[in-house]
Amino acid sequence: MAITPLLKVDNLSIGFDNDDGLVRVVEDVSFTLERGQTLSLVGESGCGKSLTAFALLQLLPPFGKILSGSVCLQGENLASMDEAQLQKIRGNRISMIFQEPMSALNPVFPVGVQVAEALILHKGMAKKAALKEAVGMLEKVGIPDPASRAVNYPHQLSGGMRQRVMIAIALACEPEILIADEPTTALDVTIQAQILDLMHDLQENLGTAILFISHDFGVVSRMADDIAVMYAGRVIEQGSSSDILLNPQHPYTQALLQTTPRIDASLDRLPAIAGRVPGPRRRPPGCCFAPRCSVAVDCCSKQRPERLALSKSHIAACHVLDSSKQEVSHAHG
Ligand SMILES: Nc1ncnc2c1ncn2[C@@H]1O[C@H](COP(=O)(O)OP(=O)(O)O)[C@@H](O)[C@H]1O
Ligand SMILES: [Mg+2]
Repeated sequence: MAITPLLKVDNLSIGFDNDDGLVRVVEDVSFTLERGQTLSLVGESGCGKSLTAFALLQLLPPFGKILSGSVCLQGENLASMDEAQLQKIRGNRISMIFQEPMSALNPVFPVGVQVAEALILHKGMAKKAALKEAVGMLEKVGIPDPASRAVNYPHQLSGGMRQRVMIAIALACEPEILIADEPTTALDVTIQAQILDLMHDLQENLGTAILFISHDFGVVSRMADDIAVMYAGRVIEQGSSSDILLNPQHPYTQALLQTTPRIDASLDRLPAIAGRVPGPRRRPPGCCFAPRCSVAVDCCSKQRPERLALSKSHIAACHVLDSSKQEVSHAHG
């Protein structure tokens, strides 16, 4: 019997239904996340990564809704759960950390109290024990002198330390899944590397599965087991980390990788991909990347490319790839 995946997302589509009418923002996203694994969603800003993450927790912004598809946590569809059931899952079995920890921390309480609150809420600990455990948690996430840091307020800590506090809160309940949405984007490179190492270590020790969201392949390459590349609301290429990093097939993935500085290269800014991601109401009828694509052919602007399985683990949606594959099969057939 096949083992039920920890998290399975099938054909998830998300839209907004407001005064301007219904607009589809995320279309047909599918992936699975296994225990102890890291799946990365990567793509430029505006591609639908954060909305996908919020949809997993059934926490879309006002007017946002899941239009179709399912999100199953160990086989149970979160979309069919009521609010009480979802509250037991959020922060308990699935936790989330964000780019800007300041906005998620409460400015008027010491950070130790905020970690303790998570322990009281999700683990039912008594206040005194929770405060003591909170100091232990702060130590675990690498905060020096945790006992005296615990009584500091968020504004008294650096950005890197605040993100460590957020990770401590997110991990307080030992979640099965941690969603990390651009967790290091606001931090400088050295601190960024420390936070990634920390997440790695915690994952090894606790077996947490991580959905790691980033616009930066440099960061993703340090974290991911599997990678899904999103463009304009769709997953356009998906595979193991080596499929995507060593053998990228979609022109968007290739372009995005080319604009990622290599760790050993000088830190000069590389040119970004010319043009920008079309907004949800401006998506062209064909491949959304066609207007920016250097190898686009005629049909790219007319028809949406289907996803094509390149190997057991590797999928891409691109007409140019389609036709080259067909040529190959003609040549051999
Ligand atoms: N609250 C909202 N109302 C309407 N549209 C939204 C809202 N939030 C996001 N969107 C649309 O969804 C797109 C994807 O957003 P998001 O998931 O935040 O992208 P990413 O995280 O990849 O940068 C945005 O470009 C925007 O057009
Ligand atoms: Mg985002």
